[in-house]
Amino acid sequence: MTYIITTPLYYVNDKPHLGSVYTTLICDSIARYNRLMGKEVIFITGVDEHGLKIQRTASQKGIPPDQHCDEISSIFYKNWKQWNISFSSFIRTSSINHKKIVYEFYNRVKKTGDIYIGIQKGWYCVGCEEFKDNPDNSPETLCPIHRKKLEYKNEENLFFRLSKYQKQIENIVNKEGFIEPKERRNEIISFVKKGLKDFSISRTNLTWGIPVPDKSDHTFYVWFDALLGYVSALSLNEDDPSLTKSISSGWPASLHLIGKDILRFHAIYWPAMLLSAGMAPPTKIIGHGFLTREGQKMGKSLGNVLDPDLLLEKYGEDAVRWFLLKDILLGSDGDFQHKRFVDIVNNDLANTIGNLLNRTTSMSCKWFNKSVPDISNNKEVILSELSKKMIKEYINYFNNNQLDLASNLVLNYAIKINLYLNENEPWSLIKNDESIDEVKIIIYNVLESIRIIGLLLNPLLPNLSNKIDNQLGKLYKKDQPWINQLEWGLTPEGNELPSPIPIITKLEYE
Ligand code: MSP
Repeated sequence: MTYIITTPLYYVNDKPHLGSVYTTLICDSIARYNRLMGKEVIFITGVDEHGLKIQRTASQKGIPPDQHCDEISSIFYKNWKQWNISFSSFIRTSSINHKKIVYEFYNRVKKTGDIYIGIQKGWYCVGCEEFKDNPDNSPETLCPIHRKKLEYKNEENLFFRLSKYQKQIENIVNKEGFIEPKERRNEIISFVKKGLKDFSISRTNLTWGIPVPDKSDHTFYVWFDALLGYVSALSLNEDDPSLTKSISSGWPASLHLIGKDILRFHAIYWPAMLLSAGMAPPTKIIGHGFLTREGQKMGKSLGNVLDPDLLLEKYGEDAVRWFLLKDILLGSDGDFQHKRFVDIVNNDLANTIGNLLNRTTSMSCKWFNKSVPDISNNKEVILSELSKKMIKEYINYFNNNQLDLASNLVLNYAIKINLYLNENEPWSLIKNDESIDEVKIIIYNVLESIRIIGLLLNPLLPNLSNKIDNQLGKLYKKDQPWINQLEWGLTPEGNELPSPIPIITKLEYE
């Protein structure tokens, strides 16, 4: 079965910030893990290019919206490559294939009888592209997310009959595991219980978008357009894209990974739209928390973003990935503090994992002729039980998308191996000729543990994992199942080792 995972399609009002990098890195890690587990994975990412927010951004820059979108979209694409994101499909909502899918989808929903014309009155946040509550009806009210004034709208719009799907949506959101984490699930369940209201799916006074085919002056509401990007991504390379082709490519999505602010769109509106078009709703939705900086949500509109380009250039992919995946509980908010970032990278990656590898390969090279010691006379498997137990837990965590727990588990294992090494002191034993066999066993066991650590880091830190493998003499066989290579004892005795070099440099405090 195909595993389809998606990032949100990012607004192109600006280049990626660390929040968008965070979402994309989590997806990348989950996609990599599923691939390693032998699944066929389609990893969809891309950009949301239409709507008032983008139209205004382009006009402030004094350039046509399509030119603005080309510029920012290509930055997203390039950035994801620089971050080593293993996406298979990059969808732009301004593409022709996407437009065709939106039309076909609209026609299906219309045929079901779920579209009608009405008047939409209310307060709108252009940043969220969403109508908001404004109990005081005050033009001074700010959007709690973007801290910008809401705008009053009173216009003729097309509406989608969301209310008709009340029962079905209740059943979907109540399904165990459909929405994670639990707190978010409860929020959505209680929102749905209050009764679903129809929502408008077109706008007038908006030129930058997909025109509604049978309603002049109407443009599709950006969400009715963008959500379909997940479907059109599956028909991206077709000459003649269609819903049927996307379905046969594997729809529905296995996992939409998004931020908590856009959960309603994904967990309520989207499944109802899909049901109306006779399509299956996604299997799972995870709403992660916000990345804050000094306690405040990081966002383009708020002007407090951390430039991910600078982080990547200065600290490298492994350091940032590790901090974001290991230190932030998926689902909770996380604060980016420079000191903590440096501490974590130095302690975990440089001191614990990097140093364990470096000192062990150095000893092995020095004492055993630049190779892995031969323990064929004494196959004592000291650490294998510890390793087996840890791998089982790791698989369990990853299957539940608990990346932070999986990362911490690998780290704790590395801490235990360091302890084992320190307690056994092979550097003292080597001085005594009679202890040579004992030394060989210790070194072999530690090298084998590091091999396992490297493999388990593969979906989390692919670059570092590769560096570890190189230092062990290239043992990982990409063409063979990863899971089988987690078996204890596969480091070949006598395997040649390259000259030890540190795989990660310590970061400096500024
Ligand atoms: N275009 C819509 C999504 C359409 S999906 C069919 C959108 N785009 S966005 O660029 O504003 O946000 C994309 C994602 O980034 C959202 O999931 C949002 O929650 C996430 N983040 C935006 N700021 C963030 C942080 N500071 N921290 C973590 N994630 C953040 O919404």
